[in-house]
Amino acid sequence: MNLVLGVSGSVAAYRSADLARELMRAGFVVRVCLTDAAEKFVTQALFEALTGQPCLTSAFDEPVAGRMAHIDWARSADVILVAPATANTLNKLAAGIADDMLTTLVLASEAPLVIAPAMNPHMYGSEVTRNSLDELRARAASIVEPLEGDVACGEQGQGKLASISAIVDAVREITARSAKLAGKTVLITSGPTREPLDSVRFLSNRSSGKMGSALARAVMLMGGQATLVCGPGSARPPLGAQVVRVETALDMLEAARGLAQRADLIVGAAAVADYRPEQSAHGKIRRSSEPIELRLVPNPDVIAELGKVAKPGVRIVGFAAEPDSALDAARQKIVRKGLFAIAVNNVSRPDAGFDVDSNELSLLFADGRTARSGLQSKLSCALWLLEQIVDSP
Ligand SMILES: Cc1cc2nc3c(=O)[nH]c(=O)nc-3n(C[C@H](O)[C@H](O)[C@H](O)COP(=O)(O)O)c2cc1C
Repeated sequence: MNLVLGVSGSVAAYRSADLARELMRAGFVVRVCLTDAAEKFVTQALFEALTGQPCLTSAFDEPVAGRMAHIDWARSADVILVAPATANTLNKLAAGIADDMLTTLVLASEAPLVIAPAMNPHMYGSEVTRNSLDELRARAASIVEPLEGDVACGEQGQGKLASISAIVDAVREITARSAKLAGKTVLITSGPTREPLDSVRFLSNRSSGKMGSALARAVMLMGGQATLVCGPGSARPPLGAQVVRVETALDMLEAARGLAQRADLIVGAAAVADYRPEQSAHGKIRRSSEPIELRLVPNPDVIAELGKVAKPGVRIVGFAAEPDSALDAARQKIVRKGLFAIAVNNVSRPDAGFDVDSNELSLLFADGRTARSGLQSKLSCALWLLEQIVDSP
C-alpha cells in the first residue's frame, strides 16, 4: 500500500522520522512531502535516506520528468497521512487552499486522509481550528487527537502529537476500511422522483440526493465501485461513480433493474414517489375557476422489485423517512420489501434527514438487531451504515 506522509512545520516534525519507519514496518511504501516550515526542522535528505523514495518539498518538484508529482502522488496514494499537522496546514486543508505541494496533493487526491495535529493548546482550542476539524471530519478525514501535557512552548494543555502507535493504528483502521468493498459493485438509488402532472408541472418531494451521493463516496472510500441511479436532486455525485439520471419512479425502476442484476449490494436511498398522476396532460393545464380532481395511482415499490432480480444472497438495504421516532412502520417494511436492513432517518429533526448535511440513522436489521449512528455528517453516516452492513454476519 502506498502512503504519502505530509510533514508540516511543528517541533514534532522530528518524530515523523520514527513514524515513517514504523509505517514501513507495517508494510506501507512511504513517500514524504515536507512543507517549507517543516524543512526548518527536518530535511529532505533524512526522509529520502529513511524511505528510499523521493521526498517532495516544493509545488514544482518533479521527480519523474514530465509527470506532475502532485497528480502522480495524489493518484497513487492509498492513504495520505499529515503528521504533524500544524494549525496553518490543517486550516488550509479545511478551506481547500493549495499553495504548496502538500496542500495541493491532498486537494488533488480522493484517498482517505488521516490528520495528526500538533500545536500550542490555544491554537488547537481556537474556534477557527475547531471549525476546520469539524469540516475535515465531515469529509471523513480521521483525526488522531493530540494528547494533553507539556507542549514544546512550555504551556500545558491539549496539543502534543499523538503517540506513533496511535497514529499507525488510525492509518491501519482507515486502510482496513478501504478494502471492505474491494472488487464489489454497489447500486444506490438516490434523490427524489418527479411525477409529471403536465409538461411543466410535477409532484415531487424534499429529498436532495445528498445521502445517496454520500453513500456513493463512502463506497469508493471502502474500495468499491458505486453506481448511482439518481432522480433530479441538487447533490453532485462524486467523481468516479457511474451515474444514471432519471426523472420518474418508473424510469428509476427501469434503469436500476438492469444494474441490480450485477450489483453485490443494493442501497435504496431514493425518496421514490409512492403515487403518480394517473394521467399527465400534454402541454399546460390551464387555470379556471373550477376545482380540478387529480387521480393518483400507485407506483411500483422500486427497492422490493430490485430484490426480485438481484443475485442470490445480495444484501438489500432500504431507507425510511419517518416523521417521528416510531420504528414499527419501518420494521414492517423490512418484511414487506424483503430487506436485509432498513435505515430510518427521523425527518422531524431540523439537523437530520431532508436537504441538510448531517443525519442520524437508526438501523434495523431483519434479524432483529438495531444500531444507531448518532448525529454525524452524511458521509460519516454513510460509512457507518456500509460498515454495519458489510461487517454483519
Ligand atoms: C520553533 C517553532 C515551532 C513551531 N511549532 C508549531 C507547532 O507545533 N504547531 C503549529 O501549528 N505551528 C508551529 N509553529 C508555527 C508554524 O511553523 C507556522 O505557522 C508555519 O507557517 C507553518 O507552516 P506549514 O503549515 O506550511 O508547515 C512553530 C514555529 C516555530 C518557529
